[in-house]
Amino acid sequence: SKLIVTTLEGEIRELLAASGLSVMEIIRDAGIDELRALCGGCLSCATCHVIVDPADLDRLAPMSDEEAELLADLSTRTPTSRLSCQIPFDETLDSLRVAVADAA
Ligand code: FES
Repeated sequence: SKLIVTTLEGEIRELLAASGLSVMEIIRDAGIDELRALCGGCLSCATCHVIVDPADLDRLAPMSDEEAELLADLSTRTPTSRLSCQIPFDETLDSLRVAVADAA
């Protein structure tokens, strides 16, 4: 499976994506460290903010209240913002498109 990521500079990267990892882990493992993910996936930092392609949003499970609360504090939030550590990747998400977003 693959994950399609747009970097902050607008470069589009196709990443090999293994089931069982989070979208955050797949992006980090590919060396895209502009996704800072400072808390390592424990849902406390919001620096793993991504913007999901609107066409793909329905493919994702709904977010938890905790994720929604963290996202609500981001000035850069969009209607399709998610925290990538909270998106478990599996083959049903093949070719999911996300863009790295500012965490401010
Ligand atoms: Fe910290 Fe996702 S990595 S909330």
